[in-house]
Amino acid sequence: MGSRPDSRLVQGIGRVVGPQHVVLEPAVMAAYADDWTGRFHGDPSVVIRPGDAAEVAAVLALCCEAGLALVPQGGNTGLVGGSVPLGGEAVLSLRRLNAVTDVDALGGQLTAGAGATVADVQAAARAAGGEYGVDLGSRDSATVGGTVATNAGGLQVLRYGPTRAQLMGVEAVLGTGSTVSHLGGLMKDNTGYDLGGLLCGSEGTLGVVTAARLRLVPPSPERVVALLAFASSAAAVDAASHLRRHLPDLNSLEFFLQSGLDLVCRVTGASHPFSGSHAAYLLLEVAGQHDPLPAANSVLDSLPAVADVAVATDSPRRAQLWRYREGHTEAINTLGAPHKLDVTLPATVLAAFVDGVPAVVRAADPAATTWLFGHVGDGNVHVNVTGVAADDLTVDERVLVHVAGLGGSISSEHGIGTAKRPWVHLNRTPAELEAFRRLKAAFDPAGILNPNVLLPPA
Ligand code: FAD
Ligand code: MLT
Ligand code: ZN
Repeated sequence: MGSRPDSRLVQGIGRVVGPQHVVLEPAVMAAYADDWTGRFHGDPSVVIRPGDAAEVAAVLALCCEAGLALVPQGGNTGLVGGSVPLGGEAVLSLRRLNAVTDVDALGGQLTAGAGATVADVQAAARAAGGEYGVDLGSRDSATVGGTVATNAGGLQVLRYGPTRAQLMGVEAVLGTGSTVSHLGGLMKDNTGYDLGGLLCGSEGTLGVVTAARLRLVPPSPERVVALLAFASSAAAVDAASHLRRHLPDLNSLEFFLQSGLDLVCRVTGASHPFSGSHAAYLLLEVAGQHDPLPAANSVLDSLPAVADVAVATDSPRRAQLWRYREGHTEAINTLGAPHKLDVTLPATVLAAFVDGVPAVVRAADPAATTWLFGHVGDGNVHVNVTGVAADDLTVDERVLVHVAGLGGSISSEHGIGTAKRPWVHLNRTPAELEAFRRLKAAFDPAGILNPNVLLPPA
């Protein structure tokens, strides 16, 4: 357990949130301590569970005065160690702020509390006749606060953009305890700095998100999912680029390799989709208000180099094809805590990167195994490495340096967290990092918000 905070501070926080929401029992705090991958183990000094934005503000004011460092936590599905108290901080759990309110079916917007899950927002959006543009495998646990804080991407970025592109406004409490709230939801509103856009992706280092005003997108009830097999990664990447240019109603364009498919089938017991083995696969979803099958078929028919194809129109079969892709995260975790390197490459070097990165990993650690999958439509490859000790950073360093050398991003959608903190300089100039530090000092002068995340050690 992290060292217990001053008892007068604990009592003061208890008066704000109710004593039952200040957790000090080690067995209960354990549920907030470790990250989803099992690679990062935290040690909370206390877990605080406020019930609304006013309580968050009052708690932060007390913590700012006392200098008590906090790690904001939503669904704890983050994959870069940013949501757990690695330095014995307090955990500020936002899960009780889970209301979805002010649904405006006419304007296509709603307000979601930080603790509402992505699945909650998706359900509310459907009930209002729309859809939420963000979808990801962790939808049942990942929260609005967490997805805003990480600017989560997911399975539909190609069509609707990442979380930042859904934001019509944000309410957040800064490190001082003061609340900034801009939830009016106006489509055009050039009244100064876009604080919501800045807080989005700040990983809990600048403020605690308490609510977000989110845009809804028009419904796309008609869906087709196709799984395509290829003899090489290069052929799959070429086909992905062709599909992106010729199928405007593409929701998703994902890829994985035979090794990952074999692992998913072994772990889940699913049967293989095709009789033969293939080097690489694309999974695509096309969606619209009208049947997308004719357009999809005509583009698929014109695609060269497809070794095999499965097309699904009904919901159970579509879900079955999706499981081959979505099953990767859990299947890889069964092999031990992976190092998860979530990177984006320019389109021109994507195929060469996929072919070459296993050798980069092997050169760093001959015992390591590389797993590749991701959102190929966005250039986003998830390089997962197993068989490496949690604290051995040799492979991480080699891969991230390689990515930056190719003009890529070392964090595509998961954030920097604690996992990639030593390498932010690969993508950001000293002037940018200095601007980051000045922003941090302005928003969180006492340095109490997520001190072990994002910014490299001074
Ligand atoms: P947490 O894990 O609790 O926190 C994540 C970060 O946000 C931490 O730094 C935390 O301090 C901060 N934070 C949390 N809540 C707040 C708040 N209210 N205010 C300020 N800061 C806060 N990610 C993708 O981008 N795309 C994917 O496709 C994707 N798929 C996934 C699939 C699986 C199976 C899993 C386990 C994870 C996946 N993720 C994906 C990663 C993860 O779900 C996202 O990063 C998500 O945004 C985290 O949300 P959370 O509520 O769990 O946040
Ligand atoms: C995914 O695309 O499946 C997620 O980002 C999770 C992961 O990287 O494992
Ligand atoms: Zn992803």
